[in-house]
Amino acid sequence: MNKAQAKQLLRHVSLRQLQIFDAIVRLGSFTRAAKELYITQPTVSMQIKKLERSVGLPLFEQIGKQNYLTEAGKIIRMHTQQVLDALANMEMEIADIQGLKTGHLRLAVVTTAKYFAPRALGKFCELYPGVDVSLKVTNRERLLQRLEDNADDLYILGHPPQSNDVIFEPYLDNPLVVLAPRNHPLAGKVDIEPKQLAEYPFIMREPGSGTRMATEEFFTQHKTELNIRMELGSNEAIKHAIDAGLGISVLSIHTLNLEGVKGPLVRLDVKGFPLSWQWHVGHNKGKHLSVIAKTFLHFIKTESDSIMRN
Ligand code: PGA
Repeated sequence: MNKAQAKQLLRHVSLRQLQIFDAIVRLGSFTRAAKELYITQPTVSMQIKKLERSVGLPLFEQIGKQNYLTEAGKIIRMHTQQVLDALANMEMEIADIQGLKTGHLRLAVVTTAKYFAPRALGKFCELYPGVDVSLKVTNRERLLQRLEDNADDLYILGHPPQSNDVIFEPYLDNPLVVLAPRNHPLAGKVDIEPKQLAEYPFIMREPGSGTRMATEEFFTQHKTELNIRMELGSNEAIKHAIDAGLGISVLSIHTLNLEGVKGPLVRLDVKGFPLSWQWHVGHNKGKHLSVIAKTFLHFIKTESDSIMRN
Protein backbone atom coordinates (compact mmCIF):
# COMPACT_ATOMS: atom_id res chain seq x y z
CA MET A 1 0.00 0.00 0.00
CA ASN A 2 1.42 3.40 -0.92
CA LYS A 3 1.31 6.51 1.28
CA ALA A 4 -1.64 8.00 -0.56
CA GLN A 5 -3.69 4.84 -0.04
CA ALA A 6 -2.76 4.73 3.64
CA LYS A 7 -3.93 8.34 4.04
CA GLN A 8 -7.14 7.46 2.26
CA LEU A 9 -7.77 4.71 4.82
CA LEU A 10 -6.98 6.94 7.78
CA ARG A 11 -9.32 9.62 6.47
CA HIS A 12 -12.23 7.36 5.62
CA VAL A 13 -12.21 4.23 7.80
CA SER A 14 -13.94 4.70 11.12
CA LEU A 15 -13.45 2.69 14.30
CA ARG A 16 -17.16 1.94 14.22
CA GLN A 17 -16.74 0.28 10.80
CA LEU A 18 -13.92 -1.86 12.17
CA GLN A 19 -16.04 -2.79 15.18
CA ILE A 20 -18.90 -3.83 12.87
CA PHE A 21 -16.51 -5.79 10.65
CA ASP A 22 -15.06 -7.55 13.71
CA ALA A 23 -18.54 -8.50 14.97
CA ILE A 24 -19.49 -10.01 11.58
CA VAL A 25 -16.31 -12.09 11.49
CA ARG A 26 -16.70 -13.26 15.08
CA LEU A 27 -20.39 -14.06 14.89
CA GLY A 28 -20.41 -15.29 11.30
CA SER A 29 -23.37 -13.20 10.18
CA PHE A 30 -24.47 -9.63 9.40
CA THR A 31 -27.73 -10.17 11.30
CA ARG A 32 -26.05 -11.39 14.49
CA ALA A 33 -23.55 -8.51 14.31
CA ALA A 34 -26.45 -6.03 14.00
CA LYS A 35 -28.10 -7.60 17.05
CA GLU A 36 -24.96 -7.51 19.16
CA LEU A 37 -24.31 -3.87 18.33
CA TYR A 38 -27.95 -2.78 18.62
CA ILE A 39 -28.11 -1.43 15.08
CA THR A 40 -30.14 -2.43 12.04
CA GLN A 41 -28.95 -4.85 9.42
CA PRO A 42 -29.07 -2.21 6.61
CA THR A 43 -26.74 -0.04 8.73
CA VAL A 44 -24.32 -2.97 9.04
CA SER A 45 -24.39 -3.55 5.26
CA MET A 46 -23.97 0.14 4.52
CA GLN A 47 -20.98 0.52 6.85
CA ILE A 48 -19.31 -2.54 5.35
CA LYS A 49 -19.88 -1.15 1.84
CA LYS A 50 -18.20 2.08 2.93
CA LEU A 51 -15.31 0.15 4.43
CA GLU A 52 -14.92 -1.84 1.21
CA ARG A 53 -14.96 1.38 -0.80
CA SER A 54 -12.16 2.83 1.34
CA VAL A 55 -10.12 -0.37 1.07
CA GLY A 56 -10.83 -0.60 -2.65
CA LEU A 57 -11.64 -4.33 -2.57
CA PRO A 58 -14.51 -6.54 -1.40
CA LEU A 59 -14.00 -7.98 2.09
CA PHE A 60 -16.61 -10.74 1.99
CA GLU A 61 -17.79 -13.16 -0.63
CA GLN A 62 -21.02 -15.02 -0.31
CA ILE A 63 -21.15 -18.70 -1.18
CA GLY A 64 -24.63 -20.09 -0.64
CA LYS A 65 -25.84 -18.45 2.53
CA GLN A 66 -22.39 -18.27 4.05
CA ASN A 67 -20.12 -15.21 4.09
CA TYR A 68 -16.42 -15.90 3.63
CA LEU A 69 -13.55 -13.47 4.03
CA THR A 70 -11.71 -12.56 0.86
CA GLU A 71 -7.90 -12.24 0.86
CA ALA A 72 -8.31 -8.52 1.58
CA GLY A 73 -10.86 -9.36 4.28
CA LYS A 74 -8.34 -11.62 6.03
CA ILE A 75 -5.74 -8.83 6.07
CA ILE A 76 -8.27 -6.35 7.42
CA ARG A 77 -9.31 -8.90 10.07
CA MET A 78 -5.76 -9.28 11.33
CA HIS A 79 -5.19 -5.54 11.64
CA THR A 80 -8.67 -4.85 13.01
CA GLN A 81 -7.96 -7.25 15.83
CA GLN A 82 -4.78 -5.35 16.67
CA VAL A 83 -6.55 -1.97 16.58
CA LEU A 84 -9.41 -3.19 18.80
CA ASP A 85 -7.00 -4.94 21.19
CA ALA A 86 -4.94 -1.75 21.42
CA LEU A 87 -8.06 0.25 22.26
CA ALA A 88 -9.18 -2.27 24.88
CA ASN A 89 -5.69 -2.16 26.39
CA MET A 90 -5.69 1.61 26.37
CA GLU A 91 -8.92 1.56 28.35
CA MET A 92 -7.61 -1.02 30.81
CA GLU A 93 -4.26 0.70 31.29
CA ILE A 94 -5.98 3.98 32.03
CA ALA A 95 -8.27 2.17 34.48
CA ASP A 96 -5.16 0.58 35.98
CA ILE A 97 -3.46 3.89 36.75
CA GLN A 98 -6.75 5.01 38.26
CA GLY A 99 -6.43 1.99 40.55
CA LEU A 100 -9.34 0.09 38.96
CA LYS A 101 -9.01 -3.32 37.40
CA THR A 102 -11.80 -3.32 34.89
CA GLY A 103 -12.15 -4.85 31.47
CA HIS A 104 -12.71 -8.09 29.71
CA LEU A 105 -10.84 -11.38 30.00
CA ARG A 106 -11.27 -13.95 27.24
CA LEU A 107 -10.18 -17.36 28.41
CA ALA A 108 -10.33 -20.61 26.45
CA VAL A 109 -9.77 -23.95 28.17
CA VAL A 110 -9.85 -27.61 27.15
CA THR A 111 -12.89 -29.61 28.25
CA THR A 112 -11.10 -31.23 31.16
CA ALA A 113 -10.02 -27.86 32.56
CA LYS A 114 -13.66 -26.92 33.10
CA TYR A 115 -13.44 -28.90 36.36
CA PHE A 116 -11.05 -26.43 37.97
CA ALA A 117 -10.74 -23.27 35.83
CA PRO A 118 -14.11 -21.83 37.02
CA ARG A 119 -12.92 -22.06 40.64
CA ALA A 120 -9.86 -19.93 39.89
CA LEU A 121 -12.00 -17.57 37.83
CA GLY A 122 -14.45 -17.23 40.70
CA LYS A 123 -11.68 -16.22 43.11
CA PHE A 124 -10.23 -13.83 40.56
CA CYS A 125 -13.60 -12.15 39.98
CA GLU A 126 -14.05 -11.77 43.74
CA LEU A 127 -10.76 -9.87 43.84
CA TYR A 128 -11.55 -7.81 40.74
CA PRO A 129 -15.31 -7.36 40.55
CA GLY A 130 -14.90 -4.92 37.64
CA VAL A 131 -13.63 -7.67 35.34
CA ASP A 132 -16.04 -9.54 33.13
CA VAL A 133 -14.99 -12.87 31.81
CA SER A 134 -15.85 -15.07 28.88
CA LEU A 135 -14.86 -18.71 29.19
CA LYS A 136 -14.79 -20.92 26.12
CA VAL A 137 -14.64 -24.67 26.79
CA THR A 138 -13.64 -26.91 23.91
CA ASN A 139 -11.38 -29.86 23.12
CA ARG A 140 -7.67 -29.60 22.48
CA GLU A 141 -7.88 -29.58 18.70
CA ARG A 142 -10.46 -26.80 18.54
CA LEU A 143 -8.62 -24.86 21.21
CA LEU A 144 -5.46 -24.93 19.07
CA GLN A 145 -7.51 -23.54 16.18
CA ARG A 146 -8.69 -20.67 18.42
CA LEU A 147 -5.08 -20.06 19.46
CA GLU A 148 -4.09 -19.85 15.80
CA ASP A 149 -6.98 -17.44 15.13
CA ASN A 150 -5.93 -15.34 18.13
CA ALA A 151 -9.51 -15.51 19.39
CA ASP A 152 -8.82 -15.25 23.16
CA ASP A 153 -6.40 -13.71 25.64
CA LEU A 154 -5.19 -16.86 27.38
CA TYR A 155 -5.43 -20.61 26.89
CA ILE A 156 -5.30 -23.51 29.35
CA LEU A 157 -4.53 -27.01 28.12
CA GLY A 158 -2.61 -30.11 29.03
CA HIS A 159 -0.36 -30.50 26.02
CA PRO A 160 0.87 -27.22 24.54
CA PRO A 161 1.76 -27.23 20.83
CA GLN A 162 5.40 -27.68 19.89
CA SER A 163 5.83 -24.32 18.21
CA ASN A 164 8.19 -21.39 18.63
CA ASP A 165 5.31 -18.98 18.10
CA VAL A 166 3.60 -19.66 21.43
CA ILE A 167 4.54 -19.29 25.10
CA PHE A 168 3.14 -21.87 27.53
CA GLU A 169 4.15 -22.60 31.10
CA PRO A 170 3.17 -25.50 33.36
CA TYR A 171 1.30 -24.26 36.42
CA LEU A 172 -0.67 -27.13 37.96
CA ASP A 173 -0.45 -30.93 38.15
CA ASN A 174 -2.88 -32.96 36.07
CA PRO A 175 -2.67 -36.61 37.15
CA LEU A 176 -4.46 -39.00 34.77
CA VAL A 177 -5.94 -42.06 36.46
CA VAL A 178 -7.66 -45.29 35.43
CA LEU A 179 -11.30 -45.28 36.53
CA ALA A 180 -13.63 -48.25 36.90
CA PRO A 181 -16.99 -49.03 38.53
CA ARG A 182 -16.77 -50.15 42.17
CA ASN A 183 -17.70 -53.76 41.30
CA HIS A 184 -14.99 -54.15 38.61
CA PRO A 185 -12.90 -57.36 38.92
CA LEU A 186 -9.69 -55.28 39.11
CA ALA A 187 -11.02 -52.91 41.81
CA GLY A 188 -8.94 -53.23 44.99
CA LYS A 189 -6.11 -55.16 43.25
CA VAL A 190 -2.60 -53.70 43.52
CA ASP A 191 0.15 -53.25 40.94
CA ILE A 192 -2.02 -54.18 37.97
CA GLU A 193 0.02 -54.62 34.77
CA PRO A 194 -1.05 -52.23 31.96
CA LYS A 195 -1.45 -55.25 29.67
CA GLN A 196 -4.20 -56.63 31.93
CA LEU A 197 -6.43 -53.70 31.02
CA ALA A 198 -6.66 -55.00 27.46
CA GLU A 199 -8.89 -57.79 28.75
CA TYR A 200 -11.67 -55.35 29.64
CA PRO A 201 -13.76 -52.99 27.49
CA PHE A 202 -12.30 -49.49 27.39
CA ILE A 203 -14.03 -46.15 26.79
CA MET A 204 -11.92 -43.60 24.91
CA ARG A 205 -12.25 -39.82 24.55
CA GLU A 206 -12.83 -38.50 21.00
CA PRO A 207 -10.00 -37.84 18.51
CA GLY A 208 -8.54 -34.37 19.14
CA SER A 209 -8.69 -34.79 22.93
CA GLY A 210 -5.51 -34.25 24.95
CA THR A 211 -6.55 -36.98 27.40
CA ARG A 212 -6.80 -39.41 24.50
CA MET A 213 -3.35 -38.37 23.25
CA ALA A 214 -1.79 -39.11 26.64
CA THR A 215 -3.64 -42.42 26.98
CA GLU A 216 -2.61 -43.62 23.52
CA GLU A 217 0.98 -42.60 24.15
CA PHE A 218 1.14 -44.60 27.38
CA PHE A 219 -0.40 -47.79 26.00
CA THR A 220 1.65 -47.65 22.81
CA GLN A 221 4.78 -47.39 24.95
CA HIS A 222 3.56 -50.43 26.89
CA LYS A 223 2.77 -52.30 23.66
CA THR A 224 -0.81 -52.78 24.79
CA GLU A 225 -3.72 -52.69 22.41
CA LEU A 226 -6.77 -51.52 24.30
CA ASN A 227 -10.13 -53.13 23.71
CA ILE A 228 -11.97 -49.94 22.80
CA ARG A 229 -15.68 -50.44 23.13
CA MET A 230 -16.77 -46.88 22.51
CA GLU A 231 -15.60 -43.32 21.97
CA LEU A 232 -17.29 -40.50 23.83
CA GLY A 233 -16.76 -36.76 23.42
CA SER A 234 -17.18 -35.71 27.04
CA ASN A 235 -15.66 -36.60 30.38
CA GLU A 236 -19.07 -36.57 32.04
CA ALA A 237 -20.50 -39.00 29.48
CA ILE A 238 -17.51 -41.28 30.09
CA LYS A 239 -18.03 -41.19 33.86
CA HIS A 240 -21.67 -42.17 33.41
CA ALA A 241 -20.70 -44.94 30.98
CA ILE A 242 -18.15 -46.33 33.47
CA ASP A 243 -20.78 -46.25 36.19
CA ALA A 244 -23.18 -48.09 33.88
CA GLY A 245 -20.63 -50.88 33.52
CA LEU A 246 -19.77 -50.16 29.88
CA GLY A 247 -16.03 -50.11 30.45
CA ILE A 248 -13.06 -48.50 32.15
CA SER A 249 -11.26 -45.34 31.08
CA VAL A 250 -8.36 -42.96 31.70
CA LEU A 251 -9.39 -39.50 32.80
CA SER A 252 -7.90 -36.55 34.63
CA ILE A 253 -8.32 -36.77 38.38
CA HIS A 254 -9.87 -33.32 38.15
CA THR A 255 -12.96 -34.84 36.56
CA LEU A 256 -13.74 -36.16 40.07
CA ASN A 257 -13.48 -32.73 41.68
CA LEU A 258 -17.13 -32.47 42.67
CA GLU A 259 -17.85 -35.99 43.90
CA GLY A 260 -14.38 -36.66 45.39
CA VAL A 261 -13.36 -40.23 46.27
CA LYS A 262 -16.80 -41.13 47.62
CA GLY A 263 -18.45 -41.21 44.20
CA PRO A 264 -19.48 -44.32 42.24
CA LEU A 265 -16.11 -44.71 40.48
CA VAL A 266 -12.85 -46.16 41.82
CA ARG A 267 -9.25 -45.67 40.74
CA LEU A 268 -7.45 -48.78 39.60
CA ASP A 269 -3.90 -49.24 40.86
CA VAL A 270 -2.25 -49.75 37.46
CA LYS A 271 1.56 -49.67 37.20
CA GLY A 272 2.73 -46.40 35.64
CA PHE A 273 -0.36 -44.52 36.84
CA PRO A 274 -1.20 -41.82 37.63
CA LEU A 275 0.33 -40.37 34.47
CA SER A 276 1.91 -37.13 35.55
CA TRP A 277 0.83 -34.48 33.11
CA GLN A 278 0.57 -30.82 33.88
CA TRP A 279 -1.78 -28.03 32.99
CA HIS A 280 -0.22 -25.26 30.96
CA VAL A 281 -1.31 -21.68 30.53
CA GLY A 282 -0.18 -19.47 27.69
CA HIS A 283 -0.78 -17.46 24.56
CA ASN A 284 0.67 -16.55 21.18
CA LYS A 285 4.14 -15.05 21.42
CA GLY A 286 3.13 -11.93 19.53
CA LYS A 287 0.06 -11.33 21.67
CA HIS A 288 0.06 -8.03 23.51
CA LEU A 289 -1.47 -9.10 26.81
CA SER A 290 -3.95 -6.72 28.42
CA VAL A 291 -3.45 -5.62 32.03
CA ILE A 292 -6.26 -7.96 33.06
CA ALA A 293 -4.78 -10.92 31.19
CA LYS A 294 -1.35 -10.29 32.79
CA THR A 295 -2.96 -10.01 36.21
CA PHE A 296 -4.91 -13.25 35.71
CA LEU A 297 -1.81 -15.05 34.43
CA HIS A 298 0.11 -14.05 37.53
CA PHE A 299 -2.87 -14.95 39.71
CA ILE A 300 -3.28 -18.52 38.47
CA LYS A 301 0.46 -19.19 38.48
CA THR A 302 0.73 -18.19 42.11
CA GLU A 303 -2.68 -19.16 43.55
CA SER A 304 -3.83 -22.31 41.72
CA ASP A 305 -2.23 -24.81 44.08
CA SER A 306 -3.86 -23.31 47.14
CA ILE A 307 -7.21 -22.83 45.36
CA MET A 308 -7.23 -26.53 44.43
CA ARG A 309 -6.34 -27.59 47.97
CA ASN A 310 -9.24 -25.65 49.53
P1 PGA B 1 -9.03 -32.71 26.57
O1 PGA B 1 -7.66 -32.04 26.94
O2 PGA B 1 -10.07 -32.19 27.52
O3 PGA B 1 -9.21 -32.27 25.14
O4 PGA B 1 -8.83 -34.19 26.69
C1 PGA B 1 -6.95 -32.34 28.05
C2 PGA B 1 -5.51 -31.96 27.79
O5 PGA B 1 -5.24 -31.03 26.99
O6 PGA B 1 -4.68 -32.63 28.41
